[in-house]
Amino acid sequence: MTAKTHVNIRKLTGRIGAEITGIDLRATISATDAAMLQEQLARHQVIFFPGQHLDLQQQKALTAVFGPTLQLPYVTPMESDPDIIRVYKGADEKGGVFGGDWHSDFSFLEIPPSGSVLNAHRLPPFGGDTLWASQAAAWEALPDALQQLLLGRDAIHVGKPYGVKWAPPVKEQSGAGIQMTRGDPTADRERRHPAVLQHPVTGRRMLYLNPTYVTRLGGMSEVESAPLLDQIQRHVTRPEFCVRYSWTPGTVAVWDNLATQHYAVNDYQGYERLMYRTTFSGPSPRDMAAVPTNAARNAAE
Ligand SMILES: [Fe+2]
Repeated sequence: MTAKTHVNIRKLTGRIGAEITGIDLRATISATDAAMLQEQLARHQVIFFPGQHLDLQQQKALTAVFGPTLQLPYVTPMESDPDIIRVYKGADEKGGVFGGDWHSDFSFLEIPPSGSVLNAHRLPPFGGDTLWASQAAAWEALPDALQQLLLGRDAIHVGKPYGVKWAPPVKEQSGAGIQMTRGDPTADRERRHPAVLQHPVTGRRMLYLNPTYVTRLGGMSEVESAPLLDQIQRHVTRPEFCVRYSWTPGTVAVWDNLATQHYAVNDYQGYERLMYRTTFSGPSPRDMAAVPTNAARNAAE
């Protein structure tokens, strides 16, 4: 049996996000449908499939449509399947939530995930939304002076939440529903990625920055970078570049991790929320640099 192909695509905002219905992702996904899904992801940057109710094997099959499944360090996966992270927050958990600040998943890795898949199982009666911001739309509206400052420049990424130097003391950290490695000095290693990427499918340029993992821009100190990064981040997260999605059980979302930032809203204390996440790999950000890195812009550190 192959997937149905009477597909309906509904844009959710002017710049990012689309809901796709009329395809059964529990069935085998044909090569034609796989190509269509890849194109829709490139175009909309985050795509949502309500009412799918995928089991974990079906979720992995959907993930494989977009790239090889990636296993990530620092966050403990499911014992039964190291490809899957169980994103759970219990009703009695206080404090923060996994992904509760603007970020791109694991951008501090040498080859970060190209994208992620999130499968909603149990949801609170209200809240628990996720927001995504288009780093392509944000780039296109960025003032010319900032574009020129960023083109050919690297950004320095660090796994701050998992390391020592930038992380809060372990006793102050929350998120008991997910087991993470904390205080690991290997996470403090600096990794450089181009600050501006060019999408391999659409050709659009896009920022590749986020406040969770980026510590500074190449050629600048943290102090020098901070006001610029703050200004750019306020721009990226303007409502015009964002979609906010209210989940329903059985919905699965796929996003382009190199073209977006996302934010999990922590507003459902007293209720549980259970999602399953998989990630897939693709090209290195270095191979997607919008222009070749300009050594002079990254020097003098
Ligand atoms: Fe995330």
